[in-house]
Amino acid sequence: MSVLFGWVLPYIVLIVFLGGMIHRMLVWAHVPVPFKLTVFPSPDTTGGAVLDLAKEAVGFRSLWRGKKSLWFGAWLFHIALALVLIGHFVGITFLGHQFTLFGATPEQSERLSILFGTYAGAALLIGLVFLTIRRLASPTMRFISNFADYLVLVLLLGIIGSGMYMRFFNEVPYGAVRDYLAGLFTFRPVLPPDNQAFLFHFTLVELLLLYFPSSKLMHACGLFFSRWLITRPYERQVILK
Ligand code: HEM
Repeated sequence: MSVLFGWVLPYIVLIVFLGGMIHRMLVWAHVPVPFKLTVFPSPDTTGGAVLDLAKEAVGFRSLWRGKKSLWFGAWLFHIALALVLIGHFVGITFLGHQFTLFGATPEQSERLSILFGTYAGAALLIGLVFLTIRRLASPTMRFISNFADYLVLVLLLGIIGSGMYMRFFNEVPYGAVRDYLAGLFTFRPVLPPDNQAFLFHFTLVELLLLYFPSSKLMHACGLFFSRWLITRPYERQVILK
């Protein structure tokens, strides 16, 4: 079981995830856009358009203008997700000692790492619970929701729940996690940490990544394509005859 989920599945996930993402983005990039879709007032320069895109991606500006309550839940969830993922990368790479780079002692750094990780994880959970309740509470939202929408929510709840469980009740040594991930990336696999919560957490992440390219989660990349069409400088667009 460990061999299947810990050694074989990660490579299948990597191929499906990367291949699927590249495929979908190539398809989008080749969709003909025969009309100019720029919405005015729009930036005059490419730099301005990139700034506009960045504001949309970081601040969810359109959603803010549209619906403030949804903006709150969606923004909290996405910002917390970004912080958790950055925290995972830095925390696992430096084994919790990343703040020593800023003058903290190793013990202080570990405490700060735990503190930030816990707050970011809690914010992520609050954001997800908010979005879940919003979907379940409104008859209109229930009507337009399908199995796939609930599947993603359940997977995310499982990932975040098992992560928080490890954080509070069942700590996994970062060293074992780092060795395991490094082994996968260097094609010299070692056994995953012997911890049921970790294996559950990791397997759910693998399932989510497998599904990602064919799911609505691709809106994370689609945003850049669609927004560019309405924000790019007018005079730079290619006119198809
Ligand atoms: C390669 C993928 C991943 C690995 C190896 C991994 C590993 C871990 C580990 C070892 C912990 C426990 C940290 C501790 O107790 O100090 C943890 C916590 C957590 N994980 Fe993951 N994780 C992965 C992906 C994800 C993803 C994609 C999400 C979110 C969708 C996520 C959400 C969380 C949360 C919310 C926590 C608890 C709070 C925190 O430590 O930040 N993890 N993860």
